[in-house]
Amino acid sequence: MMLSTPGLATRIRLIGTSPFARYEHLTHKYPQAVNLCGAVPGVPVPPHIHEAVVKAVGDGLADRYGAVPGLPKLQEAICNKLREVNGIPTEPEQIVVTVGASEALSIASLLLIEPGDVVMMLSPSYPSHIESVILAGGRVAYVPLLEADQWRFEAEALSIAWEHSLKEFEREPKVLILCDPLNPTGSCLSWESLSEIADFALKHELWVITDEVYEDYCFEGNTHFSLGCIQEMRPRIISCFSLSKAYAMPGWRVGYLVADASLSRSAVTIHDQVAVCVPLASQYAALAALSTPKEWLSGVRETVISSRQALVEGFSRLKFFLLAQPTSGLFGFPAIRGASGSVQFVEQIAEEAGVLLFPGLGFGPSGEGHVRVSFGVQKGVLEEAIERLNVWETRAPE
Ligand SMILES: Cc1ncc(COP(=O)(O)O)c(C=O)c1O
Repeated sequence: MMLSTPGLATRIRLIGTSPFARYEHLTHKYPQAVNLCGAVPGVPVPPHIHEAVVKAVGDGLADRYGAVPGLPKLQEAICNKLREVNGIPTEPEQIVVTVGASEALSIASLLLIEPGDVVMMLSPSYPSHIESVILAGGRVAYVPLLEADQWRFEAEALSIAWEHSLKEFEREPKVLILCDPLNPTGSCLSWESLSEIADFALKHELWVITDEVYEDYCFEGNTHFSLGCIQEMRPRIISCFSLSKAYAMPGWRVGYLVADASLSRSAVTIHDQVAVCVPLASQYAALAALSTPKEWLSGVRETVISSRQALVEGFSRLKFFLLAQPTSGLFGFPAIRGASGSVQFVEQIAEEAGVLLFPGLGFGPSGEGHVRVSFGVQKGVLEEAIERLNVWETRAPE
C-alpha cells in the first residue's frame, strides 16, 4: 500500500507499509498466537558472550565512541574467520563492522545504486533487499527460481531477467544482490551455480552485493560458498555477513561487510553518517562470539535439523500447505492451496488457528500464493503450531 502522508519523500512512499510492519501489527493483534516467523535458531546465546560483555562494561571499555570501522581486534578476528571459513583473504581495513547485516546491506545499496539503476535479484527475495533498492531509487529485475524443482537456480534465468530489464526499463542492470542461502525458500546455490553467476557478472560487468547471513545453515552435504572467494570477483563485490543467526544474538545487532579497500573506505563514510559506530558492548559480544568453539555451532545445527524434520513431517500431514524440504537456512516456503491471497490467508490463520505465519507477497512477485514458516524456533513451539493447524484444517471448508 502506497503511503500518502504529505511531505514524505518519494522513496518511502514507494515502499509503503513494509511486510515487517504488517507482521508487528499481527503480533499485537493476536498475542496468544504461536509464532512461526522467527529468524534465529531457538537456542540461548553461548554464556561466554554475556561474560565477555559484563567484563568489558565493568572495565569501562564500552562507554566511549569507538573507531568508526570497528574495534581493530574485532576487524582482525573477522579477517581470520573470512580467510578460514569463506576463503576470502582480506586485510582489516577492508572490514566495516555494522549494525547487523541490515546496515551492511543498506550501505552497499547506497554505495552502488543510483536513481534509475536496475538491480537483479533472485525471486522470491528477502523483502529488505527489494526495499533497499527502492530506497536508493533503483528498480528491480527479478531472476525467478524454479519452484517445481525445490526453488532451483537456472543460469538461463539471468539472461531472461537481463532481456526483461532492457525491454521494461531500457537499461542494462548494474547490480546483482545475491542472497544465499536464500530467505525465504530454504534453498542454496551449488558451486556450479555460483560459478555461472560469477561468469555472468564478470561478462556484464555487474557489481554484486551478497547476503550470507545464513551461511552456517546448509544441510545434507550442501555447502555454503562465498562468491567473494573467486578472485576475479573481488574488485566488484561487497559481501555482507551477520552474527545474528550463527550465535542466536540478533539483539546485539552486529554484522559486517567486506569489500575492496577502495569501496570499504566509502562504506566507512556512510557508516559514520548513519551510526558513527556499532555500540562497543555489542562489538565485545561479537569478539567473544567469534571465539566460540566449532562444536557449539555443530550442536545448534543438529537442533535446527531436528526442528526442520518436525516441520517437514508435520506439514506433510496438512492439506492446505505444499512444502518442499528446505535444504538450508531456517525457513520453509510452502504453497497454500485454494487461498485467494497470502496476506488475507495469514490473517485468517492467525485469527482462526492461532498461528502466526509470514505472507509470501512480501517476497516479490513469485512469493504470492505462499507463506514462510520458520523452523528456527524451539521444537515444542513448532509442534504446538502444527497441532493448531491440524485442528484448524479439520474445521475449515474444503
Ligand atoms: C536474508 C536476511 N538478511 C539479513 C537479515 C538481517 O540480519 P541482521 O540481524 O544481521 O541485521 C535477515 C534477518 O532476518 C535475513 O533473513
